[in-house]
Amino acid sequence: MAEYNRVSECVGLITLRNPPVNALSAAVRQGIVDTVQRALSDPNVKSVVICGQNGIFCGGADIKEFRSNMTGPPLIPMIHAIESANKPVVAAIEGSALGGGLELALGCHYRIAHSKARLGLPEVSLGLLPAAGGSQRLPRLIGVPAALNLITTGRHVTAAEALQLGIVDQVTDHNTVAAAVKFALSVAGRSLDPRRISTHPCPQQPDLDALFEEVMQKVRQSARGAIAPIACVQAVRAAATLPYAQGMERERELMATLFTSGQARALQYCFFAERAVGRWRMPSGARWDTSKPRPVHKAAVIGLGTMGRGITVALAQTGLSVIAVETQEKQLMEAKQAISGMLERGAKGRGVAPALDGVIYSQNIQAVADVDLVIEAVFEDIALKTKVFQQLSAVCKPGTLLCTNTSALDVDQLASETPNPELVVGMHFFAPAHVMKLLEVVYGPRSSPQAVATAMQLGKKMGKASVAVGNCRGFVGNRMLKPYIEEAFFLLEEGATPELVDQALEEFGFPMGVFRMSDLSGLDVGWRVRKGDGLVEPGTASGRSARIRQGRRYSPLGDLLCEEGRFGQKTGRGWYQYDKPGSRVARFDPWLHSFLGAYRAQHGLVARRIDHQEVLERCLYALINEGFHILDDGIAAGPEDIDVIYVSGYGWPRHRGGPMFYANMVGLAKVLERLEHYQQLHPEVPHLQPSSLLRRLVASGSPPIHKWGEAIKKLHSQL
Ligand code: NAI
Repeated sequence: MAEYNRVSECVGLITLRNPPVNALSAAVRQGIVDTVQRALSDPNVKSVVICGQNGIFCGGADIKEFRSNMTGPPLIPMIHAIESANKPVVAAIEGSALGGGLELALGCHYRIAHSKARLGLPEVSLGLLPAAGGSQRLPRLIGVPAALNLITTGRHVTAAEALQLGIVDQVTDHNTVAAAVKFALSVAGRSLDPRRISTHPCPQQPDLDALFEEVMQKVRQSARGAIAPIACVQAVRAAATLPYAQGMERERELMATLFTSGQARALQYCFFAERAVGRWRMPSGARWDTSKPRPVHKAAVIGLGTMGRGITVALAQTGLSVIAVETQEKQLMEAKQAISGMLERGAKGRGVAPALDGVIYSQNIQAVADVDLVIEAVFEDIALKTKVFQQLSAVCKPGTLLCTNTSALDVDQLASETPNPELVVGMHFFAPAHVMKLLEVVYGPRSSPQAVATAMQLGKKMGKASVAVGNCRGFVGNRMLKPYIEEAFFLLEEGATPELVDQALEEFGFPMGVFRMSDLSGLDVGWRVRKGDGLVEPGTASGRSARIRQGRRYSPLGDLLCEEGRFGQKTGRGWYQYDKPGSRVARFDPWLHSFLGAYRAQHGLVARRIDHQEVLERCLYALINEGFHILDDGIAAGPEDIDVIYVSGYGWPRHRGGPMFYANMVGLAKVLERLEHYQQLHPEVPHLQPSSLLRRLVASGSPPIHKWGEAIKKLHSQL
């Protein structure tokens, strides 16, 4: 796991071997301890180089080991032994040096990096901190402000930035190991005292207290309840104010708290869930590893409104040629300008040339004849989409994949209007499509595995968290959102205010509560959908019967606001008021509060005190309950799929792992008990009726989340 060789006569070369990223497993750590000792005790060896095989230095700790009791030599004394060595040890960094990998390199006396290498301490993203001395050595090496930035964000830096910050001593475009060996020879015999980072204080920093106060305030704001970034600041503070040994003790204490917190478990679950969704499977038995994607070189987007523009940018940024089609001339001109602007800004941020020539604009659908894949993003109108799909089927070369970005229409119905339904899938992007991470790839019963594989691969190329889901109203994300929003409306009827509901949800960790979110995305969107469903009844009917529609409790509050022209931020009024249309700062609106009072009086509703706990239980458990229905229906293959959708597309706080993980943490029996409680109080609300899967899981002893899949399969086979 760590190979030893002597090179250039007097350099001990240690190569970490643990594919794919040379993670620091117990065997690798043992290998390092053994080989370092061997090099140090060999009188012919004057200096040592540590590198990793296959062009990767080291990806860090072996996360799989977090779940079990650690065995093998611990990391801290191992790194300490390297730092205290009396022969120079040089880290040859190719590929990446992340987490424990960078901590190992910081224990070395010198660091040489390849120009394409990336370095970082991303522990915070797993709910942890760099606890093998990283939080103590990095500030000593590069100063407190830069170390705080890297450790609290977990961001990776390029070799060039690492050189500028002083993390590495040299950057090479050539063979890194050869450069490190040459360097090691040149420093043999030199005093190592100045190179032992732990023995130095942090560089002087004026007004340290003010700096930490400012950073802590910022971190608290952006952390939305996550504790790891705060612990990271505390650890760096220890580095800046305490001697090394005491700083290490503080690092250990903070790590112990984080390690046992539910948040670290949730964040590590997210890490694995994001990988698990790539291994998709369909109810037909088709799977990711047996379905070959088709190559996509050229794609088309039809309809260049809000979504089509973002999708065009996302496609062009992957290097594809894109034909962008829009029928309205004015829209086409505006879209061209907007897309070019987005491409230019995106390219500037990434330091590359904008892919402006990659997009060809046209008003004529005939222009898409030779593309491999089309994404349709015209108005949400089934007749229009059907027409577009029929045109595409006639125009496109055989085998072209036809994808729709519909948010609510039936993908199967669209597929059935084409001669080749197996070529049709949904690619449901989220606004703005070039920014938002989530992509739901929606398959129908007739979608071919190859079509799903192609859309999933394209999503991955675009850097999306792509999740394959079955076809149903709202797919996974929006279907679960519906009961969540409805509960929020019911809570207003019963006495809550938008401020109270939003505050409870924002304290839970959502970036925006349901009402601020609704103001941002526009109240008219849901109004149109409810109108289409025949739920909206204009007028002033009062009493309970006016709030029962299609046999279930219905709140017309959103409709009444829309009738007043209150569509949210775009009209300057919604659940809140704004300084002017388009403004973003939500302010308390006295009109809304007297409107709510009058509404309750008209309907004979008596406002009662509602606390945060009830808001969370009613909104979140209703959403989770729908998640169980989705699993039971086979629309999502597993809880990880739902959780990735919610974390990457709906603002569910990552440190809470996603709704299904959260239910598992809270305890399935408790979720069931609270749903039953609320269902008894509100029998006319079907979404509070516990799903039969939830009941069956509780009856079978509430298996842990990673066993739900087996339980669902077993329960289904018993039906
Ligand atoms: P939009 O109204 O901004 O844009 C639609 C565009 O399609 C317009 O520019 C229109 O001129 C063009 N168009 C209409 N018929 C056409 C045709 N035959 N050929 C070419 N272009 C045509 O609509 P938006 O918001 O971009 O939505 C598009 C689709 O994406 C809808 O199905 C919507 O449900 C879905 N969607 C929307 C999301 C959003 O947040 N806006 C999120 C996810 C999906």
